[in-house]
Amino acid sequence: MTKIAVIAGSSRGARIGLQITEWVKAVANNPAVELIDLAEENLPFFDEPASPKSGNPYQHNHTKRWAAKIADYDGFVFVFPEYNGSYPAVLKNAVDYLYPEWKNKPVSYVSYGFGAGKRAAAAFSALAENVDLQLTEQVANLTLRPEIFAADGSIQDPDVAFASEAEAVTNAVGSVVAKAQAS
Ligand SMILES: Cc1cc2nc3c(=O)[nH]c(=O)nc-3n(C[C@H](O)[C@H](O)[C@H](O)COP(=O)(O)O)c2cc1C
Repeated sequence: MTKIAVIAGSSRGARIGLQITEWVKAVANNPAVELIDLAEENLPFFDEPASPKSGNPYQHNHTKRWAAKIADYDGFVFVFPEYNGSYPAVLKNAVDYLYPEWKNKPVSYVSYGFGAGKRAAAAFSALAENVDLQLTEQVANLTLRPEIFAADGSIQDPDVAFASEAEAVTNAVGSVVAKAQAS
């Protein structure tokens, strides 16, 4: 059966990223979709002796574990905020660790930020190309507006906050599922 991972691409304790990623998974409403949380993966900064593109075997247990997890999926939807004009370092680190496990698999994204994470999205597109992930044409960009936040910093109601972007999110996940099933 096709397996797609939606990946929470931020890891700080006070993040909204996990809430948004869970919402993306709920909107996708597809049994093929599972959630990976980079905070739980807790990878150290990249420390393999060789480039993942070299074909040399991975040395570290954390790399082998991460590689085995990603190899098991047929496609990915990365969910990430914009940090200083790009995506979070934790996401870059997680991608840098591997190559054959990403290669030629379909990918889309859901970016978010006060400008809908558009600069992070552009940077992510370049990253995806470098590891030969195949970016689909359907992507989503969520705009954070002050009025969508609850007093505790969470999103009050993601269904309301992102009502106008829900269709794009459905299409982003759907495009990855469809491409994964076709290959
Ligand atoms: C270090 C840092 C840098 C940020 N830079 C940007 C930015 O360049 N553009 C933007 O729209 N929002 C920026 N923000 C605001 C984030 O989009 C917002 O805090 C969001 O909730 C972060 O996602 P997270 O809660 O999942 O970590 C930044 C936030 C942080 C913590």
